Amino acid sequence: MPLVTVAQLLAKAEAGGYAVGAFNCNNMEIVQAIVAAAEAENAPVIIQASQGAIKYAGLDVIVALVRTAAANSPVPIALHLDHGTSFEQCIQCITAGFTSVMIDGSKYPLAENIALTKQVLAAGRAVGASVEAELGKIGGTEDDITVNAKDAFFTHPQEAKEFVEATGVGSLAVAIGTAHGQYKGVPQLDFARLAEIKALVNIPIVLHGSSGVPDDQIKEAIRLGVRKVNIDTNIREAFVAAARQAIMANPNEIDPRKVLGPAREATKEIIRDKIRVFGSSGQA
Ligand code: G3H
Ligand code: 13P
Ligand code: ZN
Repeated sequence: MPLVTVAQLLAKAEAGGYAVGAFNCNNMEIVQAIVAAAEAENAPVIIQASQGAIKYAGLDVIVALVRTAAANSPVPIALHLDHGTSFEQCIQCITAGFTSVMIDGSKYPLAENIALTKQVLAAGRAVGASVEAELGKIGGTEDDITVNAKDAFFTHPQEAKEFVEATGVGSLAVAIGTAHGQYKGVPQLDFARLAEIKALVNIPIVLHGSSGVPDDQIKEAIRLGVRKVNIDTNIREAFVAAARQAIMANPNEIDPRKVLGPAREATKEIIRDKIRVFGSSGQA
């Protein structure tokens, strides 16, 4: 079927009390793995592209890959820009065929983040694209947020209310203890903060940096209102581990399909596992 928007998928997830997986893609095999996993689980799915993915694969290639995969698939699929950096980039992606964008104004002061998000929202509304914003700083595991620094980085519930009321944004990424990349220890999500945010903003919440967060914490976050769960690092790990294993098993192999095929299969399996944890199996 044609691509759908993230807003459409999250509205259904909100009603059903589950979350939709948002999986980062960088190449054809990962796109195919995401779609194959979604089909095997009969689940809706979001395929997203980061700055790095766009640079690596090219915007038009990503759109062509995902559009074609969606057109040939019976499950609903959205194409989303991950951590969009500017109004111009969001417009460029929407024009190229993305059905949804994230405008990440989290590094700006609140008023500037609000103004930027509103600008992207106005454009998105005009063409039916959905918009995600970020409040608080999610950062990377290398940022090493100490307990004392928590208050400076984590999303303030009252500020979230102000932000959502001022912008009318469709979904909000929050900082509640996750980070991008591989964790050094076990993350401990701030559920009290998440519950407070959800009570004040009546929109779907997005969890970034979800690779490596234990399943029970992911499930609790979904129970408290998370409706989109972003996964990249676990895909990288599965893909590269399987490719490495294939090469090590046959160091003289010269056929890329013999390396990338198993990588695609391993990626599909970890995505199926995630979809089950998110509760979106059977929700296509
Ligand atoms: O949000 C973070 C993603 O993992 C993006 O990483 O720009 O290296 O693709 P990347
Ligand atoms: P991880 O790489 O930690 O899974 O984070 C993905 C993400 O949040 C993409 O926006
Ligand atoms: Zn992210």
